[in-house]
Amino acid sequence: MTAPDRRAVATPPADSLLALVGGTPLIRLARSAPAAEVHAKLEYLNPGGSVKDRAALAMVLDAEESGALRPGGTIVEGTSGNTGLGLAQVAAARGYRSLFVLPDKTAVEKLDALKAYGAEIVLTPSALPREDPDHVIAYATRLAKETDGGWLADQYGNPANPDVHRRTTGPEIWEATGGRITHLVATIGTGGTITGTGQYLHEVSGGRVQVVGADPVTSAYGGGDGSPFAIEAAGHYIHPETATDVFPDVYRRDVIDRFLTIADRESILTARALARTEGLLVGGSSGTAAAAALRVAAEAGPDAVVVAILPDSGRAYLSKYHSDTWVRRQGFLDDDREGTLAGLVSDVVTVPVGTSVGEARSALESSGQPALPVVLAGRSSRFSPAAGEVLGLLSIADLAGPADAAVPVPSTPPVGIGSGETAAEALERLGPDAEVVHLVRDGRLAGVLTVGALRAQVG
Ligand SMILES: Cc1ncc(COP(=O)(O)O)c(C=O)c1O
Repeated sequence: MTAPDRRAVATPPADSLLALVGGTPLIRLARSAPAAEVHAKLEYLNPGGSVKDRAALAMVLDAEESGALRPGGTIVEGTSGNTGLGLAQVAAARGYRSLFVLPDKTAVEKLDALKAYGAEIVLTPSALPREDPDHVIAYATRLAKETDGGWLADQYGNPANPDVHRRTTGPEIWEATGGRITHLVATIGTGGTITGTGQYLHEVSGGRVQVVGADPVTSAYGGGDGSPFAIEAAGHYIHPETATDVFPDVYRRDVIDRFLTIADRESILTARALARTEGLLVGGSSGTAAAAALRVAAEAGPDAVVVAILPDSGRAYLSKYHSDTWVRRQGFLDDDREGTLAGLVSDVVTVPVGTSVGEARSALESSGQPALPVVLAGRSSRFSPAAGEVLGLLSIADLAGPADAAVPVPSTPPVGIGSGETAAEALERLGPDAEVVHLVRDGRLAGVLTVGALRAQVG
């Protein structure tokens, strides 16, 4: 069979790659939802690889017009990656220097891509309260002020971000569906995409289109407790020591008709399934949006026309969501084969960082656990300590100090084992000195066990 020659149409050369931003196609998810009409908008086909090309270009053009960014100036931004890529691309194509502040947990592929565009990078700890001067946004704001000719793009507060979606993403979807769209599904990072696209679609349809916010379960946007989640660049995490939390200025809650919260496991397994069943290699937040869209379509029936925005490609997450090793070690996949550690999952007693040694000692003694996890959670944090990131595992010998001193916190977090691993796999990578380990399921603490207990599993 010869392939249909449908693309043999000459496209005139573009003057700049910036002319290629936007205009992304919709593709029907025919294999995932054969009985429904669900379309994915492939934002990874933007030249910089994500939906953020739109906001990046729009913010720069706006700043050039207002004079905030002058020839030879420096574009500065705090970004978890994609906005940086979009801005780095525009900076290179228009002759600016670019300087980015990123959380130190950002996937290494994203850092390398920024460097390839000639961008300069500053890393800052991921887990800092908003008030900390080294928090990504505070740090970038300071750098922009201190840099000669510096201009802060400020995707969280810059009206050009939602505005470009009102002018481009919304109309593109309306036209591509011939005005038939009934539901828009999108994730929320800054909120620019859902706010601008949603506002346009509400207006043009006279309020008929429903705007659905797809959000990680624990994200604060959709009413979650703000505890950590595994999906990069979508949702809203609240650091336990953050005193007053704020949502981005560009985000308009009132544009969202309904939230659908999606567990990390479902987001990640959906992203993996899209690659295998549709040939779409997408990132984790695309999994969140697609999972929500499939649910909306199942509920709404055959007349619904659902459009999900898929923000970026899976190429940046080959070592995360698309890695079998990673999903097993994080416990997002543990029911597909015999012999995984899923059966060892249990409740865990933990203490927040800053707890006194005396209190920790009695907590450990009454828990019956071989060690006590010390976690990143405040006494006043909105989420339960067990949902916090594990900073260390304390044995009774670690708690020999004065009772009123704070518990010691190791400088590097302990290596956990995943509920998707087998005991033999886990043992193979634990060092010979390991005595106690913590178990991770769904990216969260889900048990504390001795290496002896693990060996017993191998039999
Ligand atoms: C991968 C990914 N998903 C989702 C989003 C959310 O988009 P927005 O900031 O427009 O809400 C972003 C934004 O950076 C992103 O990079």
